[in-house]
Parts: sequence; C-alpha cells; structure tokens
Amino acid sequence: MTSLWRGTLDPHRQDAARQLRPEPGVTVLDLAYGTGLNFALLEPAIGPTEAIVGTDYSSGMLARAAHRVAQHGWSNVRLLQADARTLTTEQIALPHGRLHRVLCTLGLSVMPEWESVFQRTFEMLEPVGRYAAMDLYIEPGRGLLSRALDLGYRVVARCGSQPPLLVAVAAALCGLR
Ligand SMILES: C[S@@+](CC[C@H](N)C(=O)[O-])C[C@H]1O[C@@H](n2cnc3c(N)ncnc32)[C@H](O)[C@@H]1O
Repeated sequence: MTSLWRGTLDPHRQDAARQLRPEPGVTVLDLAYGTGLNFALLEPAIGPTEAIVGTDYSSGMLARAAHRVAQHGWSNVRLLQADARTLTTEQIALPHGRLHRVLCTLGLSVMPEWESVFQRTFEMLEPVGRYAAMDLYIEPGRGLLSRALDLGYRVVARCGSQPPLLVAVAAALCGLR
C-alpha cells in the first residue's frame, strides 16, 4: 500500500523537481518539507553551500527530515520549524537575501488558507524565480468513496503536529517515508 502510493506519486514529485530547474548557486525553499523526500531530488543539481531552506510546522516532521539530512551528510540544507501561513523572509534568513526557487509538494492542499500561503511565498521569489507545486485534489462532484479518501488523506497529513509515534504511523500510512 505504502509503495503503491509512493510509486504513484513519485513521477509527479520528480516532474515538479525537474520543472523547478534547480541549478548550482540557487537557493530553494522547500515549503512543508515533511520527512524531506524532495531533498534527494534537488541535491544532485544544486551547489554545496547552503542551498535548501526547508520549513514545516511540525516538530515530528522536523525530527524525521533532520535524520534524513544527517544520514546523507547534506551540509547545504537548513531546516526551520515555522507555520507557512505566517512565514516571513526574516525567518528564512536567506543567504544573500535572495530566494530563487520555491517547491511545495503535497503541502498546499493540507493548509487552511493555502491561497494566501501561495501568495506570500510567491512574493518572496526574486523576479526571475520559479515556483513548482505538486498536489492532489478531488474534483467537485466525485462520489462518496473519493470524498472519504480525500478526508482520510487530510486527517493523516495534518497529523504532523502530533507526537512522533503518531507521525510515524501517519507517514507510513501516507507512504511518506
Ligand atoms: C502530506 S505532507 C507532504 C510532505 C512533503 N512535502 C512531501 O511531499 O512528502 C504535508 C506537510 O505539510 C505540513 N504542513 C501542514 N500545514 C502546514 C503549515 N501551515 N505550515 C507549515 N507546514 C505545514 C505538515 O506538517 C506535513 O509535513
């Protein structure tokens, strides 16, 4: 189940990372990084100095992402714990004050007020920056089963603010390991 879910989403995740056009010298904001699955897609393309700033509001996700970063020895990733709805450029403390890319995968759909989060983070980008978002949604008018699955996904995805054990269970159910 987990690998089926991951397998279904992985091509879209990879496509979003490709569309972002990461390259040496750019700084990428990974909005709502979760367990940090996007980092491995960005790492080969970007430079060795601080290049990825991740932000997520869950301490459980922060711990899991930090573990992933340490395991891989990525020295150019800085992880923040912050609510995207109130995120500021001061909080991100950008190196050279410039943000070149924003990536958000499966994040906007679980955030209340996602439109204002998108607006806020879009405005942080430098004029020729790029923004890539990959997400899921249920088309209006779909049946009960689809809506129940959608609700289940949202509940599980929001478990990020809960204690680590519940986060681990939720992440496993969601295929976000
Ligand atoms: C479904 S997970 C996606 C994680 C990751 N981007 C991925 O593609 O695997 C959604 C993430 O959004 C985070 N999140 C939800 N609302 C948030 C908010 N207001 N500010 C920051 N992070 C938020 C959750 O903590 C969770 O890690």
